[in-house]
Amino acid sequence: MGRATIIAGNWKMYKTIPEAIDFIKRLAPLVGDRQAKVYLAVPFTAIRPAVEAAGESGLVIGAQNMNDAEEGAFTGEIAARMLLDAGARFTLLGHSERRHIFGEKDDLINRKVHRALADGLQPILCVGETLEERRAGEAQEVVERQILEGLRRVKGKRKLATLVLAYEPVWAIGTGETATAEMAQEMHDHCRKVITKEWGAEVGEEMSILYGGSVKPENAGQLLQQPDVDGLLVGGASLHPELFIKIIEAVE
Ligand code: PGA
Repeated sequence: MGRATIIAGNWKMYKTIPEAIDFIKRLAPLVGDRQAKVYLAVPFTAIRPAVEAAGESGLVIGAQNMNDAEEGAFTGEIAARMLLDAGARFTLLGHSERRHIFGEKDDLINRKVHRALADGLQPILCVGETLEERRAGEAQEVVERQILEGLRRVKGKRKLATLVLAYEPVWAIGTGETATAEMAQEMHDHCRKVITKEWGAEVGEEMSILYGGSVKPENAGQLLQQPDVDGLLVGGASLHPELFIKIIEAVE
């Protein structure tokens, strides 16, 4: 299959610049000849130092969020072009912590996706249902809505080809509770069907869909064995080089 395997770390609001450099110096030499692409979403302040520490290693550095405007009077916000300027190549968008702690809605996330694509930053769109939604039997419906709304009016095979989707059930993030490999596969299959229905078989076949939510070295291999799980988005375990490296090694 032609889909890219991506192991992405999400550092959230952790790590100072020296901590980031120290981590990346340990990780970078191990990234080179892997089957998987290795991504790290770092705090804004660490982007430039992380890019410099990563050098030619192949490690891809990105951000965790951005504003939807090109620029403007938006105190405390950051624009895609500033992230690119610092060396970021991708950004997470619509992470569940953005949705649930900071109240981001699908239409704002959609504007961010359009901005990232227009300015040349690769978006990783995160979707996922809450525990209540899963218990109510609405998980697939919620995820479908987040995909269709989040990617509304995104057109063109080249743009769609740069997009990555991440399924992260909210109840599994930072809780130690992981979706079983079967649950992940079931939802990833659903996501791919939604994408195929909306954008055609080629886009559906080529879009990488990552799983996130309490990924650890112990469950990484099983998740990656699922036919529609093309990679992992790792929070807590990506803060520890030895754990993150083991997860990268689980690809082989
Ligand atoms: P976690 O976080 O691996 O700590 O559950 C995943 C994420 O929030 O992307």
